[in-house]
Amino acid sequence: MSVQLGMPVPAAGDASAAGAPPPRPAGTPAGLWDRYGRRATDMRLSLTDKCNLRCTYCMPAEGLEWLSKQAVMTAEEIVRIVRIGVDALGVRELRLTGGEPLVRADLIEIISAIRGEHPELPISMTTNGVGLDKKAAALKAAGLTRINVSLDSLHEETFAKLTRRPFLDRVLAGVDAAWAAGLGPVKLNAVLMRGINDAESPDLLAWALGRGYELRFIEQMPLDADHGWTRRNMITAAEIRELLSRDFVLSPDPRERDGAPAERFEVRRRDTLSQDAAGPVLGTVGIIASVTEPFCADCRRTRITAEGKIMSCLFSREEFDLLGLLRQGASDAELAERWQDAMWVKPKAHGMDHTGLGAADFVQPDRSMSAIGG
Ligand code: GTP
Ligand code: 5AD
Ligand code: SF4
Repeated sequence: MSVQLGMPVPAAGDASAAGAPPPRPAGTPAGLWDRYGRRATDMRLSLTDKCNLRCTYCMPAEGLEWLSKQAVMTAEEIVRIVRIGVDALGVRELRLTGGEPLVRADLIEIISAIRGEHPELPISMTTNGVGLDKKAAALKAAGLTRINVSLDSLHEETFAKLTRRPFLDRVLAGVDAAWAAGLGPVKLNAVLMRGINDAESPDLLAWALGRGYELRFIEQMPLDADHGWTRRNMITAAEIRELLSRDFVLSPDPRERDGAPAERFEVRRRDTLSQDAAGPVLGTVGIIASVTEPFCADCRRTRITAEGKIMSCLFSREEFDLLGLLRQGASDAELAERWQDAMWVKPKAHGMDHTGLGAADFVQPDRSMSAIGG
């Protein structure tokens, strides 16, 4: 079997690989603004590139090299970067991502330290749920606000096929433990893959609604390490709505979308005879249609990768080094400048669906989702 090597990973501080952005024009307002008038207030910070699953839409079966421990931000560096984001740049929400954030040994300490400095900051985490059952209560006690868990299937075999690991029971235990620990609302993420878990979508939704979890179906994005994504093969939002209409009637959720990737719908059962909506609203479902119904115009996100690079967009092909500058002894003000300059050049949109078929001018980023942080 051929071994696929990971992307080349520049060491933190390697300015040639991910250096300084051009300075933004004088007079631009303070905060993480871009040229198109968007302000990032939602910070997504990756704690590690490591993961204990191998989802087909994200990682290769084997062979991805991890970053060295030295290249990854320390707890202290993370706390400082969050402090600059919140105190100087207008960050209002923090999302911890990975890889898999639970594999980081000092996760609880990191959350406690951030919570200690920012009593009101919403701090959430997106996790694959493996090991969450053992850590949920401690995460809550440390100050985590809420949690999202990836769950693509309720069938052991399908789960194992998608994640390449037989851990469904552990993930289900993690989801329930998060709920019991008070880390709700618990949101679940399901990436639909044609011929693998798409037919299961109505059952997955029925299960989530029955337990009070908010399920979101996600269009697969071209962020897989194997570069196997094709526009033709992905399940679109329109197909997702069609699949769910077998059992449910969806109507737009009246709540403000507020820049969120997920478009939310209220869900009611479909009566088999009349085909009309029957009974009360059972809960909501989200559809994250990054490819066919992009939401870039209202994007409020800034990303910091595990090795301290600023990514202004999930699909940025340019990253700018924040950690290297920090390790060279930069002041908070200098770091804030770098971050603002990097966000100023955020692309207008990802351009994935320009042609409708293959987006001829779209170039997939070098990094896979696990190395960006979702
Ligand atoms: P909530 O705020 O809790 O609703 O979370 P979220 O849906 O914004 O984030 P989550 O980490 O659960 O990610 C769900 C899906 O949205 C994943 O597939 C992410 O990769 C995707 N996603 C998150 N942020 C962005 C973004 O800025 N752009 C795009 N295109 N997709 C995103
Ligand atoms: N396309 C869409 N979503 C993805 N995720 C991982 N890879 C992809 C992809 N290629 C989702 C995971 C997880 C979140 C962080 O991103 O399901 O819930
Ligand atoms: Fe924002 Fe980029 Fe996602 Fe578009 S693709 S919503 S610009 S992060």
